[in-house]
Amino acid sequence: MKFLVINGPNLNLLGRREPAIYGNKSYAALCEHIKATAAALGIEVDIMQTNHEGVIVDAIQDALGKYDGIVINPAAYTHTSVAIADAIAAVEIPSAEVHLSDVDSREAFRHISYVTPVCVVRVTGLGFDSYSEAMKKLLAHLQNNG
Ligand code: DQA
Repeated sequence: MKFLVINGPNLNLLGRREPAIYGNKSYAALCEHIKATAAALGIEVDIMQTNHEGVIVDAIQDALGKYDGIVINPAAYTHTSVAIADAIAAVEIPSAEVHLSDVDSREAFRHISYVTPVCVVRVTGLGFDSYSEAMKKLLAHLQNNG
């Protein structure tokens, strides 16, 4: 079982970016958390971060045939990107939407997610644990839907 974790814009600034919302821990620490979760679950994982919407679309397309699941925090593109949602729908790789913060209790524009309808799992508001929860739930989904 192999997952691709995609992190969108500004997540590389974790630790210094709005720490009251996103916490004090760095992006490198997030990657270690994801790798430790994958090891505990007995799965392989690749992790990427980009600030560019088209790079995310390319990564989703390139995932075809290589990954069993995608865990994606599209960051700000969550609320704007039809292209990312279309790419997830096109490849039909079971995907999990993740957010560090509780987007539904923040500004109204963050309540809209274009990717929710094309994802089988959604976890928000748990900080780094959003990723581990999403990975567990996505693995369970894949095991139950064989
Ligand atoms: C985020 C929430 C988004 O609204 C925001 O634009 C981000 C991060 C989160 O992980 O909480 O960049 O996806």
